[in-house]
Amino acid sequence: MSRYNNIVVLTGAGVSAESGINTFRAADGLWENHRVEDVATPEAFERNPQLVQRFYNERRAQLLNGIKPNPAHLALAEFERTWKGRFTLVTQNIDDLHERAGSRNLLHMHGELLKIRCRKSGRLFPCRQPVASDQACSCCGQMGNLRPHVVWFGEIPLYMEEIEQALSDCDLFISIGTSGNVYPAAGFFQVAKGAGATAVELNLEPSARGSHFDRALYGPASQLVPRFLQSLTGS
Ligand code: OAD
Repeated sequence: MSRYNNIVVLTGAGVSAESGINTFRAADGLWENHRVEDVATPEAFERNPQLVQRFYNERRAQLLNGIKPNPAHLALAEFERTWKGRFTLVTQNIDDLHERAGSRNLLHMHGELLKIRCRKSGRLFPCRQPVASDQACSCCGQMGNLRPHVVWFGEIPLYMEEIEQALSDCDLFISIGTSGNVYPAAGFFQVAKGAGATAVELNLEPSARGSHFDRALYGPASQLVPRFLQSLTGS
């Protein structure tokens, strides 16, 4: 069995790439085809709520149209089920593929595509349908108050207290499928290392800070993740 007792995993768009969801920074990625300032900032929503809602409506429709968890999501959920130590999965992804795979101790630090939020009350509502920018909110009745439950640039990620606690307690930190371009997630490995943890990167290619990890393995997540997790349990 492994010498680790407390594992934190951080996932990014790369873990969902083989399920058919575009990453952000690839040549065909979401940020190649859209300007961040047009669809992923609070100012963009103020300026053009129709465009922002349409962007997330399209992402939501795609997610609900045949996209499924891949072997990387499934391996993480299976590992959590059988692992005797503490396990925290932090994801930057807004898709629901980790929960569909069966992951339980999961923190969506950048929000969730299948939820919308009232800007006034902060109340969350499940959402599987397109949202119109003039739709009346179910809690306050006002038009235009419903926004995607997604953390936009300039906003503070969710669950930061829980994440910082988990990082400062962990002895193994595994970063999967993230380019390491967006803070604070890009700095999590340093927090974990500062607390004495071993930091491992599993990615298609070296990330922005790949050389600073203690160990790095490169290849598709669907192959790397099951293999690496099996190596932890010796199975
Ligand atoms: P990126 O698109 O920046 O990076 C995805 C990473 O996954 C890259 O390093 C790829 O090499 C890697 N990758 C691609 N396919 C892979 C595969 N099959 N197996 C393993 N790795 C693969 O996405 P993130 O790092 O997740 O934030 O981006 C972080 C944040 O930036 C996102 O959460 C989003 C974005 O702006 C917000 O919208 C707030």
